[in-house]
Amino acid sequence: MADLLLGQVLSFAADPFAEGPAAARHIAEGAVLVEGGRIAAVGEAAALKAAHPQATRHDHGRALISAGFVDAHVHYPQTAIIASWGKRLIDWLNGYTFPEEMRFADPAYAAEVAGRYLDLTLAHGTTTVCSYATIHPASVDAIFEAAQARGQRLYAGKTCMDRNAPEGLRDTVQSAYDDSKALLRKWHGVDRLSYVITPRFSPTSTPEQLAALGQLWKEHPDCLMQTHLSEQTDEIAWVKELFPQSRDYLDTYEAQGLLREGALYGHAIHLTEREKARLIEAGASLIHCPTSNTFIGSGLFDMGLARQLRVGLATDTGGGSSFSMLHTMAAAYEIGQLRGQALHPSQLWWLATQGSARALHADHQIGNIAAGMEADLVVVDLASTPAIEQATRRAGDIWQQIFPTIMMGDDRAIREVWVGGRKRGS
Ligand code: GUN
Ligand code: ZN
Repeated sequence: MADLLLGQVLSFAADPFAEGPAAARHIAEGAVLVEGGRIAAVGEAAALKAAHPQATRHDHGRALISAGFVDAHVHYPQTAIIASWGKRLIDWLNGYTFPEEMRFADPAYAAEVAGRYLDLTLAHGTTTVCSYATIHPASVDAIFEAAQARGQRLYAGKTCMDRNAPEGLRDTVQSAYDDSKALLRKWHGVDRLSYVITPRFSPTSTPEQLAALGQLWKEHPDCLMQTHLSEQTDEIAWVKELFPQSRDYLDTYEAQGLLREGALYGHAIHLTEREKARLIEAGASLIHCPTSNTFIGSGLFDMGLARQLRVGLATDTGGGSSFSMLHTMAAAYEIGQLRGQALHPSQLWWLATQGSARALHADHQIGNIAAGMEADLVVVDLASTPAIEQATRRAGDIWQQIFPTIMMGDDRAIREVWVGGRKRGS
């Protein structure tokens, strides 16, 4: 049984940060053939209709068919505290985040939030996330079980913290290693799930805990490792106090075996020249979290780095103020403008799909429309509200058609979501 989705099809043949908008492939009357969970073919509607007359047709008219969005840095346990008022990073963690994460000691609560989070994000067109859990192993089981039930490709790991966190939200060097290893063995490579080694950030891990997780990564080199880097200036000053012998923030990870390809650093805003050079040399991934960076008041990410290393895009739920990758693209555009870097719509859309997938080393599986790739798709209505519809009436090209949805769109623009070749809700 094959399905044939008809509409405007957007995919990427190359990286628009390297090659500009010509890196994108747009077919105005296009089609995507889905079979056995994968994309079987992409091309002109007329040709694919003629070649596959038996396929079930899903005609979306002028709507846009794209790869599903890939959100490369989220904290699913912060779903309920999204949009909490008025604090900066360290106070926000202590005042809102840690009390909420404490509630995940209850596996039933973890399961309820994990399901709620994935349903919310799927409704926004996000088909893959890379998530932090809490220190509780059951919080990792909860998100993997919820993703497994929905057939999603998903990345997650147990957040490790052995200092500067409240009682009840701290593990130890040994338990962080043991619990992470057990969860990795239980979940990594099962269905579409991948375990990610997850020290929260240097302020909440002792050098010994970072070293233990560096050792675990050495034993399981095909895993990703995620953490936070240089998000706020007060945080960086605190890291300097906690690690007096380190050259800089990145060095606190590097010294413990936590810098190489497959490392994902969230935020990475206030970097020194040495840090930038080492990140590039090591082939690390940086994850830009624009709504979070404005909401918590962190600073302006340098998108010039996208020419030199892997950069992904992320909501950073619940430090970020939206579950929507459309909204996140809009925030990335605005931050770019404040830095004199006007990102083209092709670059924004690429970041939310193939760029994030590349940051997760999964760009051969997800984040694009091409034969053989997993069929995670989103159908986007490019005239989802009266305000957007009127702004697209005189659009001369596909980018003018798409940009109002990037800037003003939300879950109302998401007409249909396909996960692993199955239409959601059917
Ligand atoms: N740094 C360490 N933990 C967190 C977190 O949960 N959210 C954000 N935005 N930054 C962090
Ligand atoms: Zn984060």
